[in-house]
Amino acid sequence: MTLAERYRAALAPVVPMETDMEISHGEGPYLVASDGRRYLDFVMGIAVNALGYGHPAVVEAVTEQARRHMHVYSGSGYQNSVVAYAEALQAEVGDGSLTFFGNSGAEAVEAAIKAARFVTGRPAIVAFRGSFHGRTLGALSLTASAARYRSSYEPLLPSVYHIDYPAPTRLNLSADEAFAHVRQQLDQLFALEVEPEQVACVVVEGIQGEGGYIIPPAGFMPWLRQITQDHGILLVVDEVQSGFGRTGRMWSYQHEGIQPDLITLGKALGGGLPLGALIARQGLLESWPGGLHGSTFGGNPVSCAGGLATLNVIRSEHLVERAASLGATALARLQELAARPHIREVRGRGLMLAVEFQGAGAPAVVERIIRSALERGLYLHPAGVRHDVIRLMPPLNIPESVLLDGIECFADLVRDIPHVRS
Ligand SMILES: Cc1ncc(COP(=O)(O)O)c(C=O)c1O
Repeated sequence: MTLAERYRAALAPVVPMETDMEISHGEGPYLVASDGRRYLDFVMGIAVNALGYGHPAVVEAVTEQARRHMHVYSGSGYQNSVVAYAEALQAEVGDGSLTFFGNSGAEAVEAAIKAARFVTGRPAIVAFRGSFHGRTLGALSLTASAARYRSSYEPLLPSVYHIDYPAPTRLNLSADEAFAHVRQQLDQLFALEVEPEQVACVVVEGIQGEGGYIIPPAGFMPWLRQITQDHGILLVVDEVQSGFGRTGRMWSYQHEGIQPDLITLGKALGGGLPLGALIARQGLLESWPGGLHGSTFGGNPVSCAGGLATLNVIRSEHLVERAASLGATALARLQELAARPHIREVRGRGLMLAVEFQGAGAPAVVERIIRSALERGLYLHPAGVRHDVIRLMPPLNIPESVLLDGIECFADLVRDIPHVRS
């Protein structure tokens, strides 16, 4: 039996297989298949491997910690890699901020829901259409990027309210109009459905990830910060996909000059190993009583060692600044495609880059480009609520020439598309 046949015979089909690759290993920005083929990987485990595959500093830190101990429950005793990582995160988020470690992005969101309800004593949560916050039942109640993620699992959490995200191309509005539309939606929500005094938190992605790498209009996040503050509502910014320098700032909200109450982290947080975190500003979680939340594996010491080593490389090699400058170069190259008839928009911040296609045939075009790219040794991923976006998530330390070669390969495929009538 082939590996694919063995997979199908042994694993639940609920995770759809996107490629036929039999994966051997990774090398920097490349994924190597067992037949020896190398793929330039712009997916990176879905924005997980910030330093590509096999960075020696990360491998060494993980190996060293694995030799000492791979797991001790985080409440059993004080562990250096766990404390050191929380301290390093504190330095990035703000003095006195406190971290709770879980195992995944979804668990970070679960923790945010519980913490916000506990701290405020309020039941309701506001989230945005097009958002992705995970698939556990609490996080899924906030996720609204595809009805099929939700509809077989209802009833979900009650008292969760969704309004539109200011996504101009999705709403078919200008940026200003989209922002005004969302302001009106929140006004209406508070007037007609839930009083703001009942709302524990608003959960928002600084840039919508799965939703299509949507950058909100200037002023949106500061407005949200102000309105939540006015009503005693906690602002949770989900940085699971956008964190760790990907956008050219350590956290996406830093582009907006705001300070959230809570942030959720995952993906790159563990340096390639499973880890999630909820980080709260000073003064919020000090009174979350012992035993009200926790997890056997949360804050695994090997994951923390891998994450800390990754963060140290991001800092010492100035990869946040590099993501900003390299991202600007890459975006300029991609912008050359913007005038083509099948392209709706080219956008990006740092190395969170996306091309949105237009017309009824856009999802098929996206699928075809991704398939053709793979045949040419380039691994790409879709996004967007209509599957009409291709997102690029290269590692932050990718050599510039490799990144631009990959973009050129992608651009060639875009230029080859026959004109699609919209
Ligand atoms: C913004 C955001 N939040 C939460 C999650 C959920 O993370 P996980 O898949 O680790 O549960 C994701 C995953 O894609 C995400 O992009």
